[in-house]
Amino acid sequence: MRKKIYFLVGVIFCIALFTGVGILKATDIPDEICIKSDAFKAHKKGPVEFSHRKHITDYKIACAECHHVYKDGKNVFKEGDPAQKCSECHDPAQSKGKVKKLMLAYHKNCQGCHKGLEKAGKPAGPTRKCNDCHAKKQ
Ligand code: HEC
Ligand code: HEC
Ligand code: HEC
Ligand code: HEC
Repeated sequence: MRKKIYFLVGVIFCIALFTGVGILKATDIPDEICIKSDAFKAHKKGPVEFSHRKHITDYKIACAECHHVYKDGKNVFKEGDPAQKCSECHDPAQSKGKVKKLMLAYHKNCQGCHKGLEKAGKPAGPTRKCNDCHAKKQ
């Protein structure tokens, strides 16, 4: 039974490799992201330069700390799954229960982690100062 499953997984993996569907290559994970979501009708603040690569490689943060797909209340996101933009689920205009509005989703995720680290006396990223994340608007 086990063997059969491994074989099937292998076959599916190869088909996916051939057709290039479904499986992400390392190169598909962006290194630097300029976060400036089109979902916001207008931007009050400047864009946020975010080093995806440093967070993944240097700070060793798991994908699932930031990316999630909830099933029965549990985050089942695994490395290799396609990552969606936050705005695909978080509405820019309003929070819907636990799914906070887009700005809060970003702030809770980014500042939430940094503040937790700061509290624990560990090296942390920006916690409060807006312009440590947001570029100044011209
Ligand atoms: C510290 C937070 C964080 C970590 C850790 C992280 N990401 Fe991301 N990732 C983001 C943010 C923020 C975006 C931009 C989302 C947006 O534009 O709404 C993003 C974007 C992406 C995108 C591009 C999505 C698109 O359609 O533009 C991919 C692919 C991705 N991440 C994969 C990964 C994988 C795989 C890992 C783990 C190896 C990972 N990420 C770890 C925060 C993170
Ligand atoms: C596929 C839909 C989906 C996407 C894409 C998504 N979220 Fe969420 N997010 C949810 C749902 C659903 C919840 C509520 C989970 C629960 O039941 O607690 C949530 C909750 C959260 C929370 C609160 C969790 C907590 O610990 O309190 C934060 C913060 C958050 N999302 C940030 C983000 C960020 C940042 C991104 C993009 C990198 C993102 N989300 C992308 C669906 C999504
Ligand atoms: C799970 C924890 C975690 C999350 C989530 C997270 N960070 Fe960080 N961030 C860190 C750590 C750890 C550092 C490095 C602290 C040090 O070593 O100086 C850092 C550093 C930074 C820095 C300064 C150094 C650099 O890499 O440029 C910026 C800016 C930053 N984070 C922005 C963000 C943004 C924007 C988000 C949300 C999209 C985010 N972070 C989400 C943990 C996190
Ligand atoms: C840890 C990083 C971080 C810090 C600190 C931070 N933000 Fe943000 N904020 C973000 C990210 C990431 C986004 C999403 C940016 C986008 O898509 O344009 C965002 C989005 C926003 C938005 C909605 C988009 C817009 O431009 O209108 C507003 C308003 C905002 N932040 C205000 C603030 C203010 C005010 C402060 C200081 C009190 C602050 N932020 C501090 C990371 C941060």
